[in-house]
Amino acid sequence: MMRMLKSLLILMMVNEVLSQNKRANKVNLKVPARNRKLLQPKVEEDPVGVKEGLNGTVSSLAHPLVAPRVSTTSVPQHNIKYPEDMKLHFLKNTMATCNDGTLAGYYLRESKGNKRWILFLEGGWCCYSKETCDVRYKSAKRLMSSSEWPTTRRGAGILSARQDENPHWWNLNVVFVPYCSSDLWSGNVSKSQNGYAFLGSVIIQEVIRDLVPKGIKQAKVVILAGSSAGGAGVLMNIDSVASLMEELTADTAQVRGLVDSGWFIGPKNTKQPDCSDATMCAVTDAIKKGLKLWNGVLPEKCKEQYNRGDEWQCFYGPKLYKTMKSPIFLVQWLYDEEQLRMENIQPEFRSMTANQWNNIENIGRELKKSLRDVPAVFAPACFSHTLITKSNWLEFQVKGVSLPRALHCWEKSLQDNRSSRTGIRGCPYHLIDNCQWPHCNPTCPALHDHVSGQAMNILQLVLQLGMENQKKGLEPKGDLSQLMAMLRNGG
Ligand SMILES: *[C@@H]1O[C@H](CO)[C@@H](O)[C@H](O)[C@H]1NC(C)=O
Ligand SMILES: *[C@@H]1O[C@H](CO)[C@@H](O)[C@H](O)[C@H]1NC(C)=O
Ligand SMILES: *[C@@H]1O[C@H](CO)[C@@H](O)[C@H](O)[C@H]1NC(C)=O
Repeated sequence: MMRMLKSLLILMMVNEVLSQNKRANKVNLKVPARNRKLLQPKVEEDPVGVKEGLNGTVSSLAHPLVAPRVSTTSVPQHNIKYPEDMKLHFLKNTMATCNDGTLAGYYLRESKGNKRWILFLEGGWCCYSKETCDVRYKSAKRLMSSSEWPTTRRGAGILSARQDENPHWWNLNVVFVPYCSSDLWSGNVSKSQNGYAFLGSVIIQEVIRDLVPKGIKQAKVVILAGSSAGGAGVLMNIDSVASLMEELTADTAQVRGLVDSGWFIGPKNTKQPDCSDATMCAVTDAIKKGLKLWNGVLPEKCKEQYNRGDEWQCFYGPKLYKTMKSPIFLVQWLYDEEQLRMENIQPEFRSMTANQWNNIENIGRELKKSLRDVPAVFAPACFSHTLITKSNWLEFQVKGVSLPRALHCWEKSLQDNRSSRTGIRGCPYHLIDNCQWPHCNPTCPALHDHVSGQAMNILQLVLQLGMENQKKGLEPKGDLSQLMAMLRNGG
């Protein structure tokens, strides 16, 4: 038994090294340097993206709880319009503005005659005070203002119009809603104490109203999707979007949610957040302050469960999920880098201590537990953040099933009115990795050392951990020690 396990493990590792080497040039998930502070909306240049400009290119931002880093691909230098580009439309209701009072809007790629729609909410954390909003305005203006938005965007991953990149949804009507309200898509105030508007929840409603003449009224399926803060936005808005669609279409459309990397597990002790954990406390504090500043609209059903002043808990997926009506599919890396950062863990792979490793394992276990009763979920045991708008999203698998396939199975089950947990035979959509260690899934994206930017694999990481611990005369604990022992014995 032990021997079999060992060979399996070694095989797995070898596979991983091979596949990571293969991919190393393709995937770049380099996370910016160590001095990032969780709550400071410091924005850095995206290592993959391109500078925003008049030529229709869009940069994505790398920053805590942030945004899809590869949310759109660049458009070539010349001003050619491709049929697959999405075009910018500003909202008709001039009350629905970005933080700085400029009109909010959406990018649309129509697929006339198609009765399926996907609306994607962009991510990018939030700001919750005069200081944090002013800093954000300086460093990430496009997340607070439409004044410099390009006229077109190109979708990637599930928003791509290319069949090879997006086999099941390439011909949907696609709506990309840029995030310019800095309120986790929850706000409803035109002029806050600090002078900025926070109208995230209003913007979503107005986008849908403006899509009525474009045909959303005839929709059969509307998928509300989002990554990171956009994923949290899906959780918070989906039921009210479903109500609005019901009102507009007399119940012909089914509204479904797709939440990518927006499922955050909150502080363990919900009554009194444990403030010995300063970072988690800081996040909770930011959410509390923010909800007040933004006049945050939370789903009634969730709010009812909490006393006044405790409604902030509805920001955390596991609390909110229980009260939701609409069908939801969750995409969540088990070692989501932003969840780790919330718990004050910077995955610094070259200098990781056994203690950090154990904390990471614990968070992964908690996350896994929180997903157990969610019927539709795709959770690879990897370090990463966001997935559905990465152009290589087809490459990642859980138990041999890719995300597009799992989503397809989920949609089929909804069509058939069947909702067993395992899904239709041979078409599963409850997919949580069972392998034991962080980044143990052989399809995980290549790790990059944060300091050197060099690609690493988990084998290097584990060996290094072992060497450091030996230097310090420490024996690794728990799973790590088992893993190391197996590696040692296996040569
Ligand atoms: C747009 O592209 C042209 C060359 O194709 C370049 O000269 C110009 O600087 C670009 N503009 C911006 C704003 O990037
Ligand atoms: C925002 O607030 C106004 C009242 O100020 C209310 O009529 C409206 O329904 C609210 N919008 C949302 C999306 O909750
Ligand atoms: C699915 O269930 C709904 C009611 O829950 C029903 O109206 C509809 O006809 C069913 N669809 C199929 C394909 O069975």
